[in-house]
Amino acid sequence: MNIGIIGTGGIATSAHIPQYIAAGANVVAVMNRTRERGEAAARQFGIERVYGTVEAMLENETLDAVSVCTPNALHKEQVIAALAAGCHVLCEKPPAISAREAMEMLEAAKAANRTLHYGFHYRHRSDTQLLKRMIEAGELGHLYAATALALRRRGIPGWGVFTDKELQGGGALLDHGVHMLDLALYLMGYPKPVDVIGHIGQYLGTRPGVGLMGTWDPDTFSVEDTARAMVKFENGASLLFDGSFMANVGPRDTMRVELRGTEGGATLFPLHVHTEAYGALFDQTPAHLEHVDPYAVQIQTFLDACQREPEFEQGEQAVILHTITDRIYGEA
Ligand SMILES: NC(=O)c1ccc[n+]([C@@H]2O[C@H](COP(=O)([O-])OP(=O)(O)OC[C@H]3O[C@@H](n4cnc5c(N)ncnc54)[C@H](O)[C@@H]3O)[C@@H](O)[C@H]2O)c1
Repeated sequence: MNIGIIGTGGIATSAHIPQYIAAGANVVAVMNRTRERGEAAARQFGIERVYGTVEAMLENETLDAVSVCTPNALHKEQVIAALAAGCHVLCEKPPAISAREAMEMLEAAKAANRTLHYGFHYRHRSDTQLLKRMIEAGELGHLYAATALALRRRGIPGWGVFTDKELQGGGALLDHGVHMLDLALYLMGYPKPVDVIGHIGQYLGTRPGVGLMGTWDPDTFSVEDTARAMVKFENGASLLFDGSFMANVGPRDTMRVELRGTEGGATLFPLHVHTEAYGALFDQTPAHLEHVDPYAVQIQTFLDACQREPEFEQGEQAVILHTITDRIYGEA
């Protein structure tokens, strides 16, 4: 398969390009707005052609699939352009910056009859997949409560445009928070939300402070450092979300999902399962679980999907996800 890459920054060069190459796909072209960055990536991976615009790459190349690895506010336009050119698309998370955009992307995938996947790599971890299989086998019963935590003590990224609301759409929620929100929803079977109460705030990011992920400019910090929510679903279940770029908490970085079901509960990460049987309470942890590189599985899953009938499920889930994020931001 011939692959093109849009955006050659951190995630493209650390995950997408090397994993396509490892999977035996041909990364034939890259595009980056800053041409030197595109050229540097092409040199690093031996990629033949570099473009400065999406249009030029799509016009001049015969591509089967494209990865979109640019700032969040650019995803929609670039994904739709690639789909319209007949490419299957793997777009980094978050899918978009609003439900309206996610819907346009889904409609474009359907119109082009091409697969649209999103870069939620936590789904592809072996512990997540084990838990998913246990849930589908009914081990936890009806899942009625979930908690998704994405809490950093001092974790504002000091590179890229992660503090720019216009280019990223948001901070603690749309950047790393969305990974745990998606994961909880994925494990719950993506129930439809009916009520959302959100709390968004800037408390620490707009003043100088310790940075454990580099330094940022508090004067231009325009995203939320705090995002919290309670979501109620059509099926009666509820979810609590708590995310921060910076918060006065003990642990440096917590990425965690907790699920409660009528037959059992579970937490990730690491995986623990809690049940009751024979008048006793059990805590289970896997004694052995094969480690997989979730980015490698993500790319292979996408490449495999490109060989089958087009898939729109992730596009549909993205609309639900962003319906929730819109409501947390108070924008719906
Ligand atoms: N799955 C994950 O865990 C994960 C991790 C990091 C980033 N991401 C996502 O990947 C995306 C990119 O993040 P990153 O960390 O690679 O950022 P980055 O800043 O390292 O790279 C972004 C790249 O996009 C380029 N760019 C900017 N505007 C462009 C345009 N109009 N057209 C083409 N290229 C343009 C920049 O020059 C840069 O090379 C974001 O959506 C982010 O949320 C996902």
